[in-house]
Amino acid sequence: MKKIRAAVSGVGGFVPPDVLDNFELSRMVDTSDEWIMQRIGIKERRILKEKGKATSYMGTKAVKELLKKTNTDPASVDFLVCGTVTSDMPFPAASQLICDKAGLSNAFGYDVNAACSGFLFALETGRRFIESGAYKKVIVVGADMMSSITNYEDRTTCPLFGDGAAAVLLEPSADDTGIIDSIMGVDGSGSKHLHMYAGGSLHPTSHETVDKKQHFVFQEGQTVFKFAVSKMADISDEIMKRNNLTHNDIKYLVPHQANMRIIEATARRMEINRDQVMINIEKYGNTTAATIPLCLWDFESQLKKGDNLILTSFGAGFTWGAVYIKWSYNPKSGNR
Ligand SMILES: CC(C)(COP(=O)(O)OP(=O)(O)OC[C@H]1O[C@@H](n2cnc3c(N)ncnc32)[C@H](O)[C@@H]1OP(=O)(O)O)[C@@H](O)C(=O)NCCC(=O)NCCS
Repeated sequence: MKKIRAAVSGVGGFVPPDVLDNFELSRMVDTSDEWIMQRIGIKERRILKEKGKATSYMGTKAVKELLKKTNTDPASVDFLVCGTVTSDMPFPAASQLICDKAGLSNAFGYDVNAACSGFLFALETGRRFIESGAYKKVIVVGADMMSSITNYEDRTTCPLFGDGAAAVLLEPSADDTGIIDSIMGVDGSGSKHLHMYAGGSLHPTSHETVDKKQHFVFQEGQTVFKFAVSKMADISDEIMKRNNLTHNDIKYLVPHQANMRIIEATARRMEINRDQVMINIEKYGNTTAATIPLCLWDFESQLKKGDNLILTSFGAGFTWGAVYIKWSYNPKSGNR
């Protein structure tokens, strides 16, 4: 029997309208546009400011756009998986709230917690449900409201992060396009370098944890930087080699958007030209699980059926992933 392959059949996205640029940030902490552009490459990020709105709101906006663009009946979706580390609350999961708000009345869903690799881990999950033949329509979301766990008094982390969400629809492929291969990995010993210390079962929320500002992202920037470059380049190389691809065969590398220097160093190590790399970090910053699908959202109109994409990520855990996709459709009218 022919193997069922999962195809990406549409992309939706959402970023909140409020912009926090480097000039405003330099009024909040001791930093400058020049330092941030040189060391990180982010000009501005979006911040969800509306009261009573959080990650599931952005995820729902992205899913609704996706349903509209792909002309998909919400009731026909079987399963929704959301990569996030900033669910609206510890439970229920953001995916369950999104199913409700987007009217996915027949879907079940859950969240995947893998930080910046959240979207690729969720994509791997969704892909396998399609390949097994269990489901016909799966939505994979990457959504994070990083402003809710960023310390805006810490200049070493606050320029990095922003808020956003994006989603893809997976369906059984009608041809040889779709998700071809993947590599996923974790190394929990890396947790000491990048984590949120309190608010879990080890250090439940207390006056002390709040006073010590332990509910924010903590990271050792340089250590994370080195791991990110070598891991993303190694696994992207590996997935290309085992699929007999050279850099000439790749239409786009789609790297997690954490730091422009990480993106450039990864591309250099892979001998991939800059115009073969999806980059939108300058306008959104690091939106954690949302960066990769937001790239697909921004670049969708430039993708053609049969294009080879390598998606790659590195994040807290440590977690990493690389996915080889043969794109399944030409730009449609109605694309953004
Ligand atoms: C965080 C990061 C941008 C810092 O850049 P860096 O080049 O490593 O900078 P350093 O930490 O060595 O700091 C260099 C100097 O700049 C200062 N500095 C740090 N942040 C600053 C800021 N926003 N503005 C101005 N100066 C800053 C430091 O205090 C330090 O000063 P010192 O030399 O007087 O001590 C970088 O390490 C990084 O991007 N790491 C990976 C982060 C990441 O991607 N995380 C997400 C998970 S994938």
